[in-house]
Amino acid sequence: MRQHIRFYVGDTLHHLSDLPPEMTLLDWLREQQSRTGTKEGCNEGDCGACTVLVGRLEQDRLVWRAVNACIHMVWMLDGAQLLTVEDLRTASGTLHPVQQAMVDEHGSQCGFCTPGFVMSMVALSTRADLAELEGTLDGERVINEALAGNLCRCTGYAPIVRAMKKAAAHCARNGEPISARQEELTARLRALQDGKTVELRSPKGRITLPASVDALATAYAQDPAAVLVAGGTDVGLWVTKRLRQLPHIIAVRSAQDLHNIHTRPDGALWIGAAVTYTEAMPHLLAHLPAAEQTLRRIGSTQVRNAATVCGNIGNASPIGDGPPIFMAAGAQLHLRCAGVRRVVPLEAFFLDYGKQDIQPGEFIEGVLVPPLAQGSVCAVYKVSKRFDQDISAVLGAFVLVMATDGTIQQARLAYGGMAGIPCRAKKAEAAMLGQPRTQATLRAAQAAIQEDFTPLSDMRASAWYRSTVAANLLARLFEPAPASSTEGMTTGAPTLQNWQELADG
Ligand SMILES: Cc1cc2nc3c(=O)[nH]c(=O)nc-3n(C[C@H](O)[C@H](O)[C@H](O)COP(=O)(O)OP(=O)(O)OC[C@H]3O[C@@H](n4cnc5c(N)ncnc54)[C@H](O)[C@@H]3O)c2cc1C
Ligand code: FES
Ligand code: FES
Repeated sequence: MRQHIRFYVGDTLHHLSDLPPEMTLLDWLREQQSRTGTKEGCNEGDCGACTVLVGRLEQDRLVWRAVNACIHMVWMLDGAQLLTVEDLRTASGTLHPVQQAMVDEHGSQCGFCTPGFVMSMVALSTRADLAELEGTLDGERVINEALAGNLCRCTGYAPIVRAMKKAAAHCARNGEPISARQEELTARLRALQDGKTVELRSPKGRITLPASVDALATAYAQDPAAVLVAGGTDVGLWVTKRLRQLPHIIAVRSAQDLHNIHTRPDGALWIGAAVTYTEAMPHLLAHLPAAEQTLRRIGSTQVRNAATVCGNIGNASPIGDGPPIFMAAGAQLHLRCAGVRRVVPLEAFFLDYGKQDIQPGEFIEGVLVPPLAQGSVCAVYKVSKRFDQDISAVLGAFVLVMATDGTIQQARLAYGGMAGIPCRAKKAEAAMLGQPRTQATLRAAQAAIQEDFTPLSDMRASAWYRSTVAANLLARLFEPAPASSTEGMTTGAPTLQNWQELADG
């Protein structure tokens, strides 16, 4: 057992033992480290002004992730390397290629958003596959995705995107300064990994960082009143917006054996409780390609870098994007309390608004997503006011299993935003069973879905809008599109010939 956390900020090693559990990284940096380059805008993960880089060993390789410091807690840094905008310029005053490109391309006006943009851009320029991305169709999408969590109110995005292309081209050819220190930084992080559970106790509160799932199970069974925190992208807002105090936090992501994600021999995908959306993304895209566009629109890069798939289920939000997708796919939730494990179908976990089938001291160990049956039609549609970084008004996730005679053998229609919990449209499903995929079946299902749900009106959408959209999404499912599991995928990504070419012209 260790009684302090340790991490690097720049080249300085910090040991901390006396820490309020809810202390955010942003407050600590600005108020205790005088690192005021990291800005506070929204304080809720939306604007990206507070973006910093966290380096961690992932399968023994140092990987840099951009995160929002305003909803990241200091204790989350145990064993990590933090970089803020102050760490980019060399001692002799040379700017990082991203900073230089922002100067050259006039990527900053008032400058408030600039450090956050720069850190997101540096994260992208440290990607190991940067050279391969240049000149591929993917490049432009990758840049847009990397910057979708950063808001700029005055410069406008065109010069910033130009600066990113220029910096990426420079780094792909000449190397990136942080990646150039990869070996040295990896070695010093390795030296911090001791596999120990950490327990911080002070008059300010208690923080437990269990090293394993067994240690987590024991700690939570002993104090079921503690708050479990995985990525903290929801819990962070309890602190910054609701000013809640959290006397005892138990971390989920410190348990190394919860980081497991793999496809089992039967084709089912296992996602451990500590796996973030970023880590899960390649697996989910292979497993549920129809969900690609929605998965890429969950929060922003910074949010997905911290947010776990299981936290998205654990928070039981009626408008969370993951639950309807996994529910349509027939996922099962693996729960554990001390040494006792049980498995529930995901849809049975959500009982009512704010009420789940989970006992005191019980937690999610992981979620198991079965493979789609042969001949399935799968589609996922997220409807929100903005394309990027917005919570769904309505989300429809659909899986139809077709019989060889063209009739619908099984239908799983799961919705978010239509009730107090994510749930299936059972009456609409019944209207489809045994029927061909025709307009008559569609009309019957659209009529039935009005009986499935009585949605609420709120600031995102009116009840009328939600009901209309829910029925219209079925119409989209019934469009004479190719009946394949890739329906609903992003298509027509902009073409990028070459970063240097675009930067030049
Ligand atoms: C700016 C912003 C944008 C967002 N956009 C989206 C979006 O587009 N779509 C969307 O669906 N969500 C969105 N979210 C919400 C949030 O990011 C997701 O719900 C996320 O997946 C939560 O995961 P986490 O690991 O951060 O959870 P945490 O904040 O760590 O935890 C959330 C809840 O789950 C509980 N919990 C965590 N792990 C476990 C476990 N293993 N067992 C039991 N309980 C557990 C916690 O106690 C807490 O009650 C957004 C959030 C922000 C801040
Ligand atoms: S201050 Fe806006 S995302 Fe952190
Ligand atoms: S430069 Fe002013 S907000 Fe971006």
